[in-house]
Amino acid sequence: MEILNVLILLVFIFLLKDFIKKNKKVHPKSPSGPLAFPIIGNIPQLKFKEFLFNKQEHTIIGEYSQSNDGICRAYLGDRYFLFISNYDVVKCIQKDDNFMDRPSKFVPGWRYISNNGMGIMSSSEEKWTRAKTLVIKSLRIHSKKELIEEKAKELIDSLDKCANSNEIIYPKEYFQGYSCSILFKYMFNQEIPVKNEQSKAIGNAIEHVFSNISKLTAFDCFEFLSPFYDWFFEKRLKGCDIVRHIINSQNDKHLESIDPSKPRDLMDDLLIEYGVNEITQEDRTQINQICFDIFGPSVGTITITLNWVILQLCNHQDLQEIVYNEIKNAVVSDGSEYVNMSHKQSIPYLVAFIKETMRLCSNGFGLPKTAKKDQICGNYLIPKDAIIFVNYLAISLNEELFSNPHEFNPKRYLDESIPIPNIHFGVGPRACPGRFIAIDEMFLAVSNILLKYKIKSVDGKKIDDSIQFSVSLKAKDYCIKLEKRKQ
Ligand code: HEM
Repeated sequence: MEILNVLILLVFIFLLKDFIKKNKKVHPKSPSGPLAFPIIGNIPQLKFKEFLFNKQEHTIIGEYSQSNDGICRAYLGDRYFLFISNYDVVKCIQKDDNFMDRPSKFVPGWRYISNNGMGIMSSSEEKWTRAKTLVIKSLRIHSKKELIEEKAKELIDSLDKCANSNEIIYPKEYFQGYSCSILFKYMFNQEIPVKNEQSKAIGNAIEHVFSNISKLTAFDCFEFLSPFYDWFFEKRLKGCDIVRHIINSQNDKHLESIDPSKPRDLMDDLLIEYGVNEITQEDRTQINQICFDIFGPSVGTITITLNWVILQLCNHQDLQEIVYNEIKNAVVSDGSEYVNMSHKQSIPYLVAFIKETMRLCSNGFGLPKTAKKDQICGNYLIPKDAIIFVNYLAISLNEELFSNPHEFNPKRYLDESIPIPNIHFGVGPRACPGRFIAIDEMFLAVSNILLKYKIKSVDGKKIDDSIQFSVSLKAKDYCIKLEKRKQ
C-alpha cells in the first residue's frame, strides 16, 4: 500500500512540475497562450474546439493569437509552438539569421517527409545554402516564359473540348495537369500532355500529403512514440511514394544519359553540382529530396491557388468582367490570339486579383522555422528551439495593415501610395524560390481562360468558399461551366 502511495505522490509531483514548467512565464516578455495541461499540453483545447464547435485548426489558433497580441504559445505534448501574426515579430523572424533554420528534425512528420532534414525546404545551414543557390539559378534557366506560354495554350485546347460540349468541368484536374506538365519539362526535360491521368494521380497524392502533414498527430507531439514514426508516417503520408518513385527512376535515367556539358534540366544541374561520376548515396538522397521539395509546391500549391482564383472569379462576376475587358484590350492592341508574358504589364488588375485571392484564401501557416538561440523580437522573447509558424491568414485580416480586411478588393494592390505587406511567398532568405514561376503560371492560365470563356457556377449560385485546413488552405472541390466568349 505504501509503495502505491509513494507512486501516486511521484506521479503527482511529476504532473505538477510539468504543469508549472509549461505555464510559468520564464521572462516578462514570454508569449502567453492557453492554459497547458501536464503531458498533453494544449491538445485538449484544440481537439475539443474542433470537435464541439466544428472549428478548424487555423480558426482556433487565429482566435487565441488575436486575444494575445498576435502571438500565441501552444504546447502540443512537450513541444513548444509559437503561432505568430504580430507583424513586428513576423518581420524580425523573416529577416534575422537566428530564425533561418527549419525544425524538421524535431517535428516527426516533417522529419519523415524530408528524409531527416535533407533537401531544400527542410534543410538548414550549408546543406540548405548550396541547394537553394543552385535551385534559384536552375529554375531561372529551365523554366522559361516560352515554356509556360506553350503549356497555357495546351491548357486552353484541352478545356476547349469540354467547353464546346457544355460539359461540367472540375478545374482542379486541369490545373493539376497544367502544373505537372510544366514541372516535368523543367525538372526532367520530359513532355507530358496537360490532360493526363498520371498528373491527376500525382496531384491527388500531393493534396493528400498536404492535408495530412498539416494536421498534427500524437506522433508529432510525443517523443516516446519515436520508434513507431516510420511505420505510422509511411501509412499516413502514402502519397509521398508515388512522387519519390517518379524521381528515383528519373534520377537513374538521367545518370545514364547525362552530358555534363549540356545540362537539359534541373535534374542534370543537380547531378552536375553533386558529382555525376562519383555520386554518394547521401548526395543521391539530397538530389532526390530537392526534387521532391519542388514537386509539392509546384503542383500542390499552384493547383490550390489557381482553384481559388477561378472560384473567386466565379463568385465575383462584376470583377470578372473588369479583368476580361482589361485582357481583351491588351491582346486586341497587338492582334494576338493568346495572352503572353509581354501583355502582363497591361493587365495589372488580374495580377492584383490573384494577390487578393492569395491574401484571403490560400495563405495558411507557411513552413515552420525555429530559433537557434533565445531572442527578443518586438515585445516578445522567442525561446531557443521554439517551433514557429507565421499565421499568414491572420496577418491578412489585420485591420491595421489592410483596410476593410474581410472585403475582397483587388484594387488595394493597385494603389501604390498605400503600402501593404507582400507576404504571400514569405520574405527574406527563406522566401519561396518558385515565386516568379508561380505568378507567371497563374497569370497565363487565368488570363487565357478568361480571354476565351466566361466562367460560371453550375447552378448560377455562389460556390462555397469556406476554407479547408491544409499546408496551403484549400477550397472544397467544386465544378464550373465555361461559356465561350464571342471573339
Ligand atoms: C502559389 C504558389 C506558391 C506559394 C503561395 C508559395 C509560398 C511559399 C511560402 C509561403 C514559403 C515559405 C517561406 C518561408 O518559410 O518564409 C515557400 C517556400 C518554398 N517554396 Fe513556394 N510557393 C508557391 C510556389 C512554389 C513553386 C512553384 C516552387 C518551385 C518551383 C516553390 C518552391 C518552394 C521551396 C523550395 C520553398 C522552401 C524555400 C526554403 O526553405 O528556403 N514554391 N513557398
